[in-house]
Amino acid sequence: MISLHKVGIANYFYLNFYFMITTNQFSSQKLIDLEDQYGAHNYHPLPVVLTKGEGVYVWDVDGKRYYDFLSAYSAINQGHGHPKIINSLIEQAQKLTLTSRAFYNDVLGKYEQFVTNYFGFDKVLPMNTGAEAVETAIKLTRKWAYEKKGIDENQAQIIVCENNFHGRTTTIVSFSSDPSARNNFGPFTPGFIKIPYNDIEALEQVLSTQKNIAGFLVEPIQGEAGVFVPFEGYLAKAKSLCKKFNVLFIADEVQTGIARTGKLLAVDHENVKPDVLILGKALSGGVYPVSAVLANNEIMDVIKPGQHGSTFGGNPIAAAVAIAALEVVKDEKLAENAEYLGKLFRSEMNKLIEKTDLITLVRGKGLLNAIVVNDTDESNTAWEICLKLRDNGLLAKPTHGNIIRFAPPLVMNEAQLMDCVSIIKKTILEFKK
Ligand SMILES: Cc1ncc(COP(=O)(O)O)c(C=O)c1O
Repeated sequence: MISLHKVGIANYFYLNFYFMITTNQFSSQKLIDLEDQYGAHNYHPLPVVLTKGEGVYVWDVDGKRYYDFLSAYSAINQGHGHPKIINSLIEQAQKLTLTSRAFYNDVLGKYEQFVTNYFGFDKVLPMNTGAEAVETAIKLTRKWAYEKKGIDENQAQIIVCENNFHGRTTTIVSFSSDPSARNNFGPFTPGFIKIPYNDIEALEQVLSTQKNIAGFLVEPIQGEAGVFVPFEGYLAKAKSLCKKFNVLFIADEVQTGIARTGKLLAVDHENVKPDVLILGKALSGGVYPVSAVLANNEIMDVIKPGQHGSTFGGNPIAAAVAIAALEVVKDEKLAENAEYLGKLFRSEMNKLIEKTDLITLVRGKGLLNAIVVNDTDESNTAWEICLKLRDNGLLAKPTHGNIIRFAPPLVMNEAQLMDCVSIIKKTILEFKK
């Protein structure tokens, strides 16, 4: 530590504080207390304080290693600290970080060409977070509806699904079904019609009876709601109904996209091409906030200079990082790996379900899965199980009361997955309330 007489008392305490931060001298409890005291209480994290990540592993401040079985809500598909992605970040950060879109930069155009070829669209609109990309898609859809479809001014409606999760902005929570996302955040944005998820008749009913429909915004699998997989054919039927009624099919693949479900996009399982595609999270491998909206010219060209944007959207670091992150997905065949390991995982979970009453169901696609705990929605059993999983070296988090989501990095290998399976089996079979 630093000696008192040389630096004065205020500096002494400041320097010791700085020393403790930079050398990680704080206990996990102290770090949790700091967040509790100085941070808004808008999250309820599992009590574990992480300091390092590599591949499928993370380490806490006491040096204990865990399997990351959440991947920052499916952002770390390429694994923690992927060298290729990190190098692209460092190299670009040393050259040029931000120009804003007031000027051109020498990476954005290359990224735009790369990402549009990669996903098969004419154009991309780059943003930063998932919620911003959803907002962008909503604005794009409305503008298209007025300028191309001919809907009367301010009359456009977008169909959304019950129990959706598309982010946290005021407009997005306006059509959420979750009371905690909405309560006391009104007044809300109008222009959304909510229908049940996975219900083609409900979609057809609205499309055939209401004339001002601009788009249908849907998650191909509802991740936050508890990994709800719609029936096979739902997305294809929904897309063809949208086509019939000249309504944009908008796929929010922020969580399901980029190899997570065993295909590059979850809509690929049904060979569906969305009119508007929303991406985020793993677009950067969780290294940097990068999101995007992709569409073809007849849609994207309705946006003109000054009508939408973001200071950071399309910045050179984001562009460089996203190219590297997407190359990793193809080079390392992450979709194929997710497909293979996902099947193995669900079959192992089904074996576990035969041996215990504590788990009733496993569902999912690729490496986006969830188990349903045999207890009420209000119980804290899933939370307690997650605490035990943590003690046994695996990190996961409940979504909605009694459901635990399992979404490891897609760079996991079979031996690691089977190790995780045995941790989960042991934890569940030994679990006592
Ligand atoms: C389907 C979906 N859309 C949008 C979002 C919002 O993304 P972000 O948290 O980056 O704003 C999420 C985040 O979990 C999501 O799962």
